[in-house]
Amino acid sequence: MSDLRLGEFVGSLDCGTTSVRFIVFDQYANIIAQHQLEFPQYYPAPGWHEHDADEILQVSDECIAEVCRKLERDQWAKESIRIIGVTNQRETTVVWSRGTGRPLCKAIVWTDSRTKSIVAHFEKLLASTGIEFESGRLRKGVDGVEALREMTGLGLSTYFSAMKLRWMIDNNENVRKEYEADNLLFGTVESWIAYNLTGGANGGIHVSEVTNASRTLLMNIRTLQWDHHLLKFFGFRSSILPKLVSSSEVYGRIASGPLKSVRIGALIGDQQAALVGNKCFGQGEAKCTYGTGAFLLFCTGNDMVQSSHGLLSTVAYQPGPGAPPVYAVEGSIGVAGAAIKWYFRLRDSMGFIKSAEEINTLAASVADTGGVYFVPAFSGLLAPYWDPGAAGLLIGLSAYTTPGHIARATTEANAFQTRAILESMKLDSKVDLKHLKVDGGMTNGDFCMEVLADVGGFEVVRPEMRESTALGSALLAGAAIHLFGWNTSDPRTFARVNTRGSKTFLPRLSDERRKKNWLAWLQAVERSKGWEKT
Ligand code: G3P
Repeated sequence: MSDLRLGEFVGSLDCGTTSVRFIVFDQYANIIAQHQLEFPQYYPAPGWHEHDADEILQVSDECIAEVCRKLERDQWAKESIRIIGVTNQRETTVVWSRGTGRPLCKAIVWTDSRTKSIVAHFEKLLASTGIEFESGRLRKGVDGVEALREMTGLGLSTYFSAMKLRWMIDNNENVRKEYEADNLLFGTVESWIAYNLTGGANGGIHVSEVTNASRTLLMNIRTLQWDHHLLKFFGFRSSILPKLVSSSEVYGRIASGPLKSVRIGALIGDQQAALVGNKCFGQGEAKCTYGTGAFLLFCTGNDMVQSSHGLLSTVAYQPGPGAPPVYAVEGSIGVAGAAIKWYFRLRDSMGFIKSAEEINTLAASVADTGGVYFVPAFSGLLAPYWDPGAAGLLIGLSAYTTPGHIARATTEANAFQTRAILESMKLDSKVDLKHLKVDGGMTNGDFCMEVLADVGGFEVVRPEMRESTALGSALLAGAAIHLFGWNTSDPRTFARVNTRGSKTFLPRLSDERRKKNWLAWLQAVERSKGWEKT
């Protein structure tokens, strides 16, 4: 122990949809150590997607333990980790027992669309009875939808936590009993992790961070408080709710394990964390993270901009307790990397290609898609279309079509979906985005980025160190104790972080071709919409 070096590092626990990673950064965002583990996904019925909240904890513990071992192997004392931040998949809903601290059922994941009938019920309620608004005034019909947007920044969708929580209470006997006995605690993933890291049933904190809470349909996005009008509308009692906290403050200390007593200084939804990690602090700066889905966030500063073109308003981060929040508009794409995975499955069963990496080679082997368009609406379409009944669609097939054309259409689908969101952002903000910062697994290949620039008609900027999500929560955690002089209210304090350079991809396609392809994509989307009703 005595011959180990003592450094000054920040840890970030990134609890994503399919894996958890723990990364330790130094003050320049060099990665000192990291470990990543996948955890099981459960799909018990069509459209359902669940996680075992305990399994998320187990892999989190294992990642932390392995990173501590790696640090020591490299002669660093684990005490070098001064503080940690947590970032997480958002909307995924966990309920656990106030008494035992154990989950009451499997967590319902953000992608899960089982709550369509609950959404329809609340749509009807909004149209008929309406929702009570701030002044006690009832607003219904289109005005009710508008009231909900003004309060939450969101529309009614299977995506958000309130729908998932409603389903659990209404459909799971055990959950209902515990709710009625007032023994149920609700939280999103950061809430569950923070509770357990700080001791669980033995004194763990029950908190919810505002970027995550802004995805529940229960928090007023302007006041940053749980809203009793919303609770009444959706039918929940307030005693199940966590205490709301900012994105950067010391919430407590880790109760056990190799990092016992280390402070937790950041909690933040993963997409907002990536915005911070890309240093998009200023109004008009945007990033897109390509993972299972893709999430484009456009920073609007301290102004909450309400979209009239199918985007969400969301809290980007709150720099500390009581500090004015920074907002963003967001376009969420449900299926991005998941479309590529689907292609691999098709490959496996139809023998298209032999290895996962080949999709880029195959897609690049053809000059265009040969008229093929792919709308990967596997669970309907999210922003800006919001059609839960849309169906996945592959159109334009002919005898000429090869696996290369389909591979290219799969790659282009992500680019078209990104462009659709940017078109809406342009209409909402009246600002033409000059470049888009990107990160996430899918951005590793140059070909995907070239296609994105061509289809979008904008510059695509990809940083060399692309763990932006983990970095975002590390920056906020460090800033909570002013480590390295970091201060969220002064972005200049992050000037020396992650400066290793970036690669820019420029659009090369002619405007005419770009326009023609875009119009064809729009037609394909129209055909995919409303399939469930047919
Ligand atoms: O809104 C869902 C989002 O937070 C999930 O992100 O990267 O875990 O797929 P990711």
